[in-house]
Amino acid sequence: MTEDLRARYAAAGQEHVFAFWDTLAPAEQAALQAQLEGIDPARVNATVAQALAADEAARNETGARVDPPPADSVVSTVGGGADEAHYRALGLAAAARGEVGVLLLAGGQGTRLGSSAPKGCYDIHLPSGKSLFQLQAERVAKLQELASQDGARAVVPWYIMTSGPTRAPTEAFFREHAFFGLDPANVVFFEQGTLPCVGNDGKILLDTPSCVATAPDGNGGIYAALRAPRAAGDASVLEDMARRGVKYVHAYGVDNCLVKVGDPVFVGVCLAKQVPLGVKVVQKTDPGESVGVVAQKNGAFSVVEYSEIPPALSEARDAHGDLLLRAANIANHFYTVDFLAREVPAFEARMAYHVARKKIPAVDLADGARKKPDTPNGIKLELFIFDVFPFCPRLAIHEVARAEEFSPLKNASGTASDNPETSRRDLLAQQRRWLAAAGAHVADGVDVELSPRVTYAGEGLEAARGRTFDQTQNVEAL
Ligand code: UD1
Repeated sequence: MTEDLRARYAAAGQEHVFAFWDTLAPAEQAALQAQLEGIDPARVNATVAQALAADEAARNETGARVDPPPADSVVSTVGGGADEAHYRALGLAAAARGEVGVLLLAGGQGTRLGSSAPKGCYDIHLPSGKSLFQLQAERVAKLQELASQDGARAVVPWYIMTSGPTRAPTEAFFREHAFFGLDPANVVFFEQGTLPCVGNDGKILLDTPSCVATAPDGNGGIYAALRAPRAAGDASVLEDMARRGVKYVHAYGVDNCLVKVGDPVFVGVCLAKQVPLGVKVVQKTDPGESVGVVAQKNGAFSVVEYSEIPPALSEARDAHGDLLLRAANIANHFYTVDFLAREVPAFEARMAYHVARKKIPAVDLADGARKKPDTPNGIKLELFIFDVFPFCPRLAIHEVARAEEFSPLKNASGTASDNPETSRRDLLAQQRRWLAAAGAHVADGVDVELSPRVTYAGEGLEAARGRTFDQTQNVEAL
């Protein structure tokens, strides 16, 4: 081990990471050394200090003014109408020109769901047995088909952000399923960063005597990850986008079975408003729902996250009796590539990490034993993807119908909400509505699943007119 490395950690007050060095086998020493070389302990200290100061300031904040977003930043397409058709045409035209990319946030560990596999592998027990990844892949394929014009085949590249824990199983799942029929050249995996976990005293925690405890740096880690080489010597995702001519990106969370991947209407709204940044929302009606709300804080756009909102604010109502802050964030974001490449780096250092106080299994320095604490013993640091909002004065907020676009999978089977049963129920209810609107009849108690290869958003169902579906089934072609 180089003395330089030890000196660097000593200078940062983190020399204890070498506490067990002399007891480690050579391979363990090599692994620890490699990990420690990839961490800048002074930067860890600075990041922790910045995060704790921001956390403290937020807790003592009494005078912050939080308002609903200004009406002129909101475009609603609830109920459809001519405007929606106009926006869809704008978005499809951009996709036809090859300017739209899709960005999946799939680095989360899904701890609330209680499954160790990546959330996208989850089977919500649809008649087809399709996983969330497969539904999304087939929507990408359908979007490409809808955008293809005059014999030219549109390509919508799919960028998939994984993390240390999700990368290998996600890539393996895609390979096992032959990329669900997509061209692997247009499916680009990349990985977000991790940060060491620290104890309540700010000291880096050891997961084992030869390994620092780390955690993904939150879905806001996407901004740095987009600029980093995907592997040594490789292009970054932003370079890949530039090479392909991608100008606009739709980023979304993996766990929403209703997500309109690469949604042309959302893209069209943001193009019409000429904004570098957009977010989709649905109306929040239950103050206790675990969703962030889009707001203005001291005059700047922000999302007040459910884990951080004071109850008085989440329960506040306006003169009509509606929740004051009701623009529920459904983790769908629009960006121009220009914003990601040129504007974000200018303010990124001012985005403070959020502090999550957790029970983190860690090695006890006194006896070298790994212990699982009963109470929070340390902190994980996370950036949130919407931490860029306060730095961007031009944001479009696209309000959509919850029943058509949002049914997240957060909790395990049998829980009260946002679980596999509600996902399945909401997807099948949507498809029943689409079939009814197309003039088909679905018998009571029967579930009909429509493959995304048949329809992206309820269009193209003319062949179902007059048909009665009296058996539960998955429809792959009409
Ligand atoms: C998120 C939103 C919340 C919104 C809700 C809607 C954030 C920070 N919060 O909350 O405002 O109302 O979704 O469902 O976005 N992820 C990563 N890397 C990470 C952590 C998460 O890629 O390090 C991904 C997850 O895989 C998921 C998405 O980010 O696709 C959202 O993460 P999740 O933990 O599910 O967010 P929520 O707490 O539910």
